[in-house]
Amino acid sequence: MTTLAVWTLMREGATLDLAAATTRVGLLLVVYLLFTLVQRFLMRHPVLRSVGLQLNLLALTLLILLLLRPLFDQMNVHVRSAVQAMAVFLAVSVGLKLLDVLVFEQLPRWRNRPQVPLVVRDIGRLGLSVVALVLIVRGFFPGVNLNVLAVSSLVVGYIVGNATQDTLGNLFSGLALNTERPFQIGDWVSVSGHTGIVVDTTWRATRLRTRGNDYIVIPNSAIAKESIINYSRPTRSHGCYLSIGVSYNTPPNKARSAILQVLREAPEVCREPAPSVYLTGYGDFAINFTIKFFIDDYARVNQIESNVMDRLWYAFKREGITIPFPIQEELQRNATAEDEARRVAEQEHAQALLAGVDLFHSLSPEEIKRLVSRTKLELFAAGERLCRQGEPGDSFYIIRSGRVAVSIDDASGHPVIVAHLGEGGFFGEMSLLTGEPRSGTVSAETDVEVVCVSKQDFAGLLQANADLAGKLAAVLEKRAAERRSRLTTSAPNESAPPTRSVLAARIRRFFGLG
Ligand code: CMP
Repeated sequence: MTTLAVWTLMREGATLDLAAATTRVGLLLVVYLLFTLVQRFLMRHPVLRSVGLQLNLLALTLLILLLLRPLFDQMNVHVRSAVQAMAVFLAVSVGLKLLDVLVFEQLPRWRNRPQVPLVVRDIGRLGLSVVALVLIVRGFFPGVNLNVLAVSSLVVGYIVGNATQDTLGNLFSGLALNTERPFQIGDWVSVSGHTGIVVDTTWRATRLRTRGNDYIVIPNSAIAKESIINYSRPTRSHGCYLSIGVSYNTPPNKARSAILQVLREAPEVCREPAPSVYLTGYGDFAINFTIKFFIDDYARVNQIESNVMDRLWYAFKREGITIPFPIQEELQRNATAEDEARRVAEQEHAQALLAGVDLFHSLSPEEIKRLVSRTKLELFAAGERLCRQGEPGDSFYIIRSGRVAVSIDDASGHPVIVAHLGEGGFFGEMSLLTGEPRSGTVSAETDVEVVCVSKQDFAGLLQANADLAGKLAAVLEKRAAERRSRLTTSAPNESAPPTRSVLAARIRRFFGLG
């Protein structure tokens, strides 16, 4: 621009003091360089960074006007007006951009509100810039015929519009999308066969980030023609549907209540709207159910569905519900020596497990053997609850493998972990022997195998062994005392433990021993 100024001056034959002009141009370059250096530092701020180029051009234009003023005074008045008009236009651009960033980017971020899409902001700014340009041209060049300008703009617009049909199509589709607002930034959508989270919508296209963490850029015109599924609207909650079949031996109500129990226990499944289970048909080899439940984190839908399926497998296994194969081959096998050896080994392992439990120390090996033959092996998945505080319970568990955590609710109802139990550890003795509600909640920390002893299994032993109730009460008392001593200063909700004689009386009463 400075070169242009000097050149125009020479063309117009103005008297030019070359030495003075060179000094001024030199000064201009130095000051401009200094400003650029300072601006580099200022550009660290995101708001200023957004107006970097306009600010730089504005500074240059102002410096030209300021430092080359004597040169301009000797030039054609239109040249000076043009530079002045440019300075004003650049100042308006910088102001509009700053206002845009502050109002539509920073403010929503501070208030945690959704951002206004880029394309709407750009069009708004463009419209205001055109108005400003017309006013500036009018102000600085009153003689210019704006009608001629408008007509020539229309002609140029027609030519450019034809040449950029696709681009304009995308632009108008982008505008339509922003008016209809079928989705917003941050929504999970499926469009044109792609599923992802909306990252932004520009003039030309909408960008999605897929589950694989890749970007997909879809032209706005393509989106406008397609049907869009928005998983985040009208609310964040999203309904999931799963199908599962159970064998014809399973009463449908038993399967339904096992499934609902799993859904109630799964932490990622919403309580409201409540999950539901529909029997959808009697298939060739299975009774088919459709399970419907809601989640409020669509990003994790695959993981959550997989967790629910995992838990269903474990729950079905415990309840003796089978998920049938499409093809069933009937294998009739006689127990081989190998099978028998495995059965004996498992029996011995269970006996050793029970013999290690102090509650059973007073039982003879014969009694333990009899007890083992009645026990049941149950599997629980990590995260499942084996028993819940306050609920009735008549089973006692010995851990065969895995780890559990015992927690007790504090005064405000928050669970406090009081113990971790591993292989050989046991729990549930209090409710089994006294009929009291569960004194704590036990949750599986890993997948767990437990040997389960029920009240009926114990009843026979207590009836056959008159002293057993007293001996068991002694063990319960000792365990309760140990537990209290292990607990930290303020044990949550733990009341003073009952004495041995009280416990013995409770056991006898509970088992109807008179
Ligand atoms: P029960 O009351 O039948 O059911 C919950 C079980 O958690 C309880 O029996 C005990 O076996 C066990 N339990 C409760 N409190 C503790 C504790 N402080 N330490 C270890 N185990 C406990």
